[in-house]
Amino acid sequence: MGFSRRAAVAVVGVAALLSAAACGGDDSGGSSSKNVEVFTWWADGGEKAGLDGLVSQFGTDCAGYTFQNGAIAGGAGANAKQVLASRLQQSDPPDTFQAHAGAELLDYINAGQVEDLSADYDAWGLKQAFPQGLIDNLTVDGKIYSVPANIHRANVVWTNKKVVADAGITADPKDLTEFLADLDKLKAKGIKAPLAVGKDWTQLMLFESVLITDLGAEKFTGLWKGTTPWTDPLVTKGINDFKTLLTYTNTDRDALDWTDAEKLVMDGKAGYQLMGDWEAADLDAKSFKDYGYFTFPGNGTTFQWLADSFVLPKGAKNAEGTKCWLKTVGSAAGQKAFNTKKGSIPARTDAAPADYPKYQQAAMGDWKSATQVPSCAHGSACSQGWQGAANSALGAFSTKQDVAGLQKALDAAAKQFAGK
Ligand code: GAL
Repeated sequence: MGFSRRAAVAVVGVAALLSAAACGGDDSGGSSSKNVEVFTWWADGGEKAGLDGLVSQFGTDCAGYTFQNGAIAGGAGANAKQVLASRLQQSDPPDTFQAHAGAELLDYINAGQVEDLSADYDAWGLKQAFPQGLIDNLTVDGKIYSVPANIHRANVVWTNKKVVADAGITADPKDLTEFLADLDKLKAKGIKAPLAVGKDWTQLMLFESVLITDLGAEKFTGLWKGTTPWTDPLVTKGINDFKTLLTYTNTDRDALDWTDAEKLVMDGKAGYQLMGDWEAADLDAKSFKDYGYFTFPGNGTTFQWLADSFVLPKGAKNAEGTKCWLKTVGSAAGQKAFNTKKGSIPARTDAAPADYPKYQQAAMGDWKSATQVPSCAHGSACSQGWQGAANSALGAFSTKQDVAGLQKALDAAAKQFAGK
């Protein structure tokens, strides 16, 4: 029913995008070598503001080249990744594309789709510019294949301050019990769905946050490394807690992108939304000032990280222009131009916190002191195949609410994809 219709619409949409990409690709004849096609999913709001910042720095640094926007809208790359996969398969790569550091990047490396940038790292001094942990994450068999633009945090709850205050909530909840009590207070005030959420990947994010609370940082990370079994009773507890949280969410969740759920918060129809800190930038870009934020209740000092990075695909039409883009991405000026507008913090360690909005200043401090865990919804923890399986398991759970079924599906996904 609803599902298959939506799936059909999505397929038609992607087909249309594919033909648009095919037509728009390389039609500028001899001048095409000046173009650098940058493929992202940053098409609107704070995401576009971040990209625009980077593009402006690129204009200064790489005056001989022209930025060509290959952005395809859709949160977390839901549409963009499908188009990209198809273009890579047809040996028609953009000049550069956005890929998450960690397991997702490994997919492209293992498929031989991206070039080794180790020599450029040396030339541009990037090994000293990024923290060792991130360099380790990016290094495969001694080689580095992408340049990180930022560090985002996934496990943050964003609030509508007025809605929350009107319900008599005076402090941020410290654990799940307090969070549920606050959600009840909002319900009692007539906010029917106080916790806004969107479709599959946004539900996976919420679920991952619950798992961090219930398993703790180390066991949570073990789920992706094969040291914590998905059959663990704490995972069952996590699914049950997640199921309880879903009762506080909007019933049209499976049809919404993250920005639609964010709008419910802005419009005062919800008090809370769990989302990555691109939401800070997006709320700023939309001039919504009355927001607060706190780490997901029970996550303690855990910082669930992900990093957007850019690659040089094999067969890129303009490798030299792309190198100029990548150099800008890794530079202090490029990271400042991008991250001050994107809600993320710079991957470089030499940034001045005073240059950044208040939220990022706090995140920079947390990044240094917190316990870091990766994200599957945004590719630092799991491969794209695993992520796809997790997203569809969460999508099915949204309708069926079958606890044992979800745990079984996630266990099967881990068995199929772990270590691959
Ligand atoms: C993530 C990406 C972020 C942000 C978010 C929402 O995957 O890393 O930069 O764009 O999706 O679309």
